[in-house]
Amino acid sequence: MLITPNGLLTRRSVISSAIVASSMLPSVGVRRAFSQVAAFPLQSLPYPEDALAPVISANTIGFHYGKHHRAYVDNLNKLLEGSDMVGKPLEEIVKATRGDATRVALFNNAAQDWNHNFYWNSMRPGGGGAPSGALADRVKDSFGDYIKFRQEFFIAATTQFGSGWAWLTQSADKKLQVVKTANADTPMAQGTTCLLTCDVWEHAYYLDYQNRRADYVNAWLDKLVNWEFASKQLAS
Ligand SMILES: [Fe+2]
Repeated sequence: MLITPNGLLTRRSVISSAIVASSMLPSVGVRRAFSQVAAFPLQSLPYPEDALAPVISANTIGFHYGKHHRAYVDNLNKLLEGSDMVGKPLEEIVKATRGDATRVALFNNAAQDWNHNFYWNSMRPGGGGAPSGALADRVKDSFGDYIKFRQEFFIAATTQFGSGWAWLTQSADKKLQVVKTANADTPMAQGTTCLLTCDVWEHAYYLDYQNRRADYVNAWLDKLVNWEFASKQLAS
């Protein structure tokens, strides 16, 4: 994995991303300057593209990850050229540009990179169902029981008008909450701890489910949710 969900670059990614950056840039002088800081790489998927089938097909992952997510990363790196945000961690770029009318494109592409990194890790083959251990207790304390959490998350994911995301987050008073955001917006930008996210942009499900978003969300909750990843977000 080249970049963590929290946007931290490894030494290896700095080196490899400098190579990627240098291949994208036209002039030797600019190339030299930009390669001294890390462009953002497309983070590796935590599993093979066919690992979530049949819930999410390899075809969907191929387009979603290989085309859509890659485009956000490529656009982000282009927008960063010559920007005062060059070299900043991904999370910092998202937080600094949210609500800035002069940097909408930079926010959208940076946030979409972060959101997708988080989304891939919010799923695992053979996942889904209710959490166990300490997280099960947290869900019970915050929602009453798992079924009530599930209903709330399902409603958020299926009622988000147009493109967006459904999230499980932890509020400042340590309560778990379900929230939804539109387009590229993300609770992380406001300093909220995110535990899980479900992408409800049509590109996440249309090849497999067409307009049946509810079927995708039900399958996502019952067969894909990565509660181990959610637990790690509480511990970090
Ligand atoms: Fe997406």
